[in-house]
Amino acid sequence: MIPYGRQSIDEEDIASVLKVLRSDLITQGPIPDLFEKEVSNLVNSNFAVVTNSATSSLLVSCLSLGLEKGDYLWTSPNSFVASANCALHCGAQIDFVDIDLDTGNISLEKLKEKLETAKKENKLPKIIIPVHFAGQPTDQEEIWKLSKEYDFKIIEDASHSLGAKHKGEKVGSCKWSDVTVFSFHPVKIITSCEGGMSTTNDKDIRDKMQLYRTHGITKDSSKFVNGTDPWHYEQHVLGHNFRLSDLHAALGLSQLIKLPKFVSKRNNIASRYNSELIRDNIQLPTIKKENYSSFHLYVIQMVHDDYKSERERIFKFLRKIKIGVNVHYIPIHLHPYYRKLGFKEGDFPNAEKFSNRSISLPIFYDLTDHEQEFVIKNICKSYDQ
Ligand SMILES: Cc1ncc(COP(=O)(O)O)c(C=O)c1O
Repeated sequence: MIPYGRQSIDEEDIASVLKVLRSDLITQGPIPDLFEKEVSNLVNSNFAVVTNSATSSLLVSCLSLGLEKGDYLWTSPNSFVASANCALHCGAQIDFVDIDLDTGNISLEKLKEKLETAKKENKLPKIIIPVHFAGQPTDQEEIWKLSKEYDFKIIEDASHSLGAKHKGEKVGSCKWSDVTVFSFHPVKIITSCEGGMSTTNDKDIRDKMQLYRTHGITKDSSKFVNGTDPWHYEQHVLGHNFRLSDLHAALGLSQLIKLPKFVSKRNNIASRYNSELIRDNIQLPTIKKENYSSFHLYVIQMVHDDYKSERERIFKFLRKIKIGVNVHYIPIHLHPYYRKLGFKEGDFPNAEKFSNRSISLPIFYDLTDHEQEFVIKNICKSYDQ
């Protein structure tokens, strides 16, 4: 099977992990801090806090921004469930903003309309999580302006977009957000097996994220309330054990060196699909001129009148010949758990349409020219049948 995405691990990555395995500290050692510093330097943020997954990073980011019962959080329905679950874990209410059919990102127009209505109803969100679908940044500068007008915080879900740029700014710099979250799951741009990181420019948010990541415990004596003993530590909030081990961080650190070549190869693969898949019934990904995508995913959309059955036919054909295509995503609001909260079909029509007509094609660093040729040839063949 040629998967839609997979990790690329070399001997240097393996040697980095083995080095840690042979050292004294395999967790709570120095490597996670180093990984944070390197990511922070790379994306031009002041701070970074690493965790064991982007799911954990989203949650500690929400907790650190004070999300709680009675608050609203909005995100994109065209995402993995973690982008929304973080709100529910905090006891907040979740809602979604429909997407732009060309980019798969939340629609600025829909967001403006929804904010205007929410203002009248006194239901403005405390946090909005724009998701950089497939590696393409959202309209961050515009969303940032809206956050000042309507008073909400922004967590960019950049799980797909390490290495991407918006208006020349690196994703993660937090120029137009409070926090940015990355994922290091194996299908993502770089991997630490499991792993996530939040970047921010605000020291207070950084301190809180560190606290929530490690049980809510502080060892900073300047913050102690009731002790001064040299062995003293205190729990100040209800946190989690979301730490990343040194083994995982060593892999992430080693992978980070290869980020430029990983992203450039993904862009080359995308360019080839762009030039060789031009057909009437396929809509290729639209990348806005102000964006540089990291192409975590390459998603084509069937624009045939009967796109549902066309997608099913082509999907089945490609899977049968061992091309591991996939669908990103089943809209979050249509999962049974979310339907029980009151969401239903028709609530976010663009996200539903996007989901019903899209197929994610293989795109990853080790995809060979020959494999890509096989994918292209068979997509064309499936159309000619
Ligand atoms: C957009 C998005 N957000 C969050 C996550 C969660 O990432 P992780 O697997 O690192 O927890 C994913 C993972 O697929 C994702 O695609």
